[in-house]
Amino acid sequence: MKKAKVFRVGVIGAGSIAQHCHLPGYKKCGNVELVAFADPALERHKEVLEKFPEMKGYKDYRRMLEVESLDVVSVCAPNKVHPPAAIAALEAGCHVLCEKPMATTMKEADAMIDAARRAKKKLMVGFTHRLFTGPQKCKELLKKKAIGKPFMMRVRFAHGGPYPGWAKDPNTFYNPRTAAGGAMLDMGIHAIDLCLWLFGKVNAVMAKSATIIKKIRVDDNAVLLLEFANGALGYIDVGWTSKPGFNGFEIYGTEGSLICDYAKGLQQCGGVASAGKDSKLEWTMLDEHPTRGGWEIEIPHWMDVVTGKKPLEMDAQAGKNSLAVALAAYQSSKKGKRVVL
Ligand SMILES: NC(=O)c1ccc[n+]([C@@H]2O[C@H](COP(=O)([O-])OP(=O)(O)OC[C@H]3O[C@@H](n4cnc5c(N)ncnc54)[C@H](O)[C@@H]3O)[C@@H](O)[C@H]2O)c1
Repeated sequence: MKKAKVFRVGVIGAGSIAQHCHLPGYKKCGNVELVAFADPALERHKEVLEKFPEMKGYKDYRRMLEVESLDVVSVCAPNKVHPPAAIAALEAGCHVLCEKPMATTMKEADAMIDAARRAKKKLMVGFTHRLFTGPQKCKELLKKKAIGKPFMMRVRFAHGGPYPGWAKDPNTFYNPRTAAGGAMLDMGIHAIDLCLWLFGKVNAVMAKSATIIKKIRVDDNAVLLLEFANGALGYIDVGWTSKPGFNGFEIYGTEGSLICDYAKGLQQCGGVASAGKDSKLEWTMLDEHPTRGGWEIEIPHWMDVVTGKKPLEMDAQAGKNSLAVALAAYQSSKKGKRVVL
């Protein structure tokens, strides 16, 4: 019997997301050999080699790609490094899983799409929220028209920001040169992707991003208003300064609502809401833990995409579409005007 291929894996950027999601995820996959990582910070080498002593550390990803004959690469470096690193890995013949946001300009996103096409390799973007059980269930229910015609989506993703203890180097998130945006790009890109995935194309956006609390040079809070091509409206608020509160999204349709509170569960709401005595709300709990999945399954899912067992849905075009909305939102905030895409 023919032996199954073992994929040689490398990781570019060995910080928090690499250590919490990508490296342990690959370790779980049977068809993978964890070969090498590249990170200029030597503290990362110590941390990674303690947990994954079989790997070889490089300071420069170009050198790693030259030496190691890799098949699959995860790009987990700061935002500004995503395009050059992903393109170099594609040109070295690797399938690439790139962290979000895929790029910080449309020109870079196009260059990445071209590189994947030229190399005939897969390029996936890490839109983790799509892999949570709650959003998956909503996608299925919308397809079945379980809440009639959806006309409104509201998303709120907010936390305390990339504080020390999460990001190995929080300053790269707060530096416009390495991050190219603040909360609106970092958290907003997940929210925008969910909106596009569940409601379809966005035609126009109005937004306000602001630096309200933190003393940083990028936005720490933002609000976006989306106009979908199908006539529906979307509302997103994101932040890096929030104490625990609501995180999740709500979808309103002509026949009911889906309330996906990441902490309290995914519920469907129907019945009759009125000021009179006939008011009777019907709540059905669909999923008590709607954030199961995500990082837990992202890498096995990606390896199924690489081997052709699953379709490539979180593709570079999806990455580019969400980036277009995020960049339009920054433009809208700067000009104080609605921006048509
Ligand atoms: N999908 C998700 O849910 C999710 C969650 C967190 C972070 N992310 C994304 O992952 C990326 C990394 O975030 P993080 O939280 O791991 O940050 P981090 O600061 O913990 O790690 C980033 C690492 O990249 C390294 N680095 C810097 N320049 C590099 C280069 N030229 N080549 C190789 N490595 C380089 C840094 O030394 C650092 O170790 C960001 O783009 C972020 O948006 C995604």
